[in-house]
Amino acid sequence: MKFKPIVRLGDKRIYRVAEKVNKIPSSELDELIKQMFTTMQALNGIGIAAPQIGVNQRVIIIGFESSPRYPNEAAVPNTVLINPSFEPLSQEKVLGWEGCLSIPGMRGVVPRYKKIKYRGFDSQGNLIQREAENLHARIVQHECDHIDGKLYPCHIEDWRHFGFEEEVWQDVIEKRIPNFE
Ligand code: NI
Repeated sequence: MKFKPIVRLGDKRIYRVAEKVNKIPSSELDELIKQMFTTMQALNGIGIAAPQIGVNQRVIIIGFESSPRYPNEAAVPNTVLINPSFEPLSQEKVLGWEGCLSIPGMRGVVPRYKKIKYRGFDSQGNLIQREAENLHARIVQHECDHIDGKLYPCHIEDWRHFGFEEEVWQDVIEKRIPNFE
């Protein structure tokens, strides 16, 4: 199966608030999820949201074994989350580098809650509830933003923490946050 073209930053479709999925399971949903996995894996992503392939529904997937886009990171299980939500388990936020398939070639440092509890439904309608921290928690927060029409640059606190992959790659792989003070 060929992967779907990615809706990129600037395309108005990426800023919409996505619609709740009312019917689980369905063959349309199964097809959507298959396309999302194919697209994410073809592009070495670690998460993707349905609006990124032009489908305005509250469906996200996360997960990877290893990814050249995110070296030195522990695996996250492949997980489908329909109508997902999360809550922080503490107010603690941590800074970390993020990228996005809708903003190819760039990375930014974004604060996210360190520990969260998230929930959503799988493709059969089973409830999934998990606690997560660090990168796992970060991906869920990033993908949940997508279905509310938000992309990571809106959270960047210092504009110098946004740059081209070629320029910031060493910081990304060493998980180093440059200090400009
Ligand atoms: Ni993204």
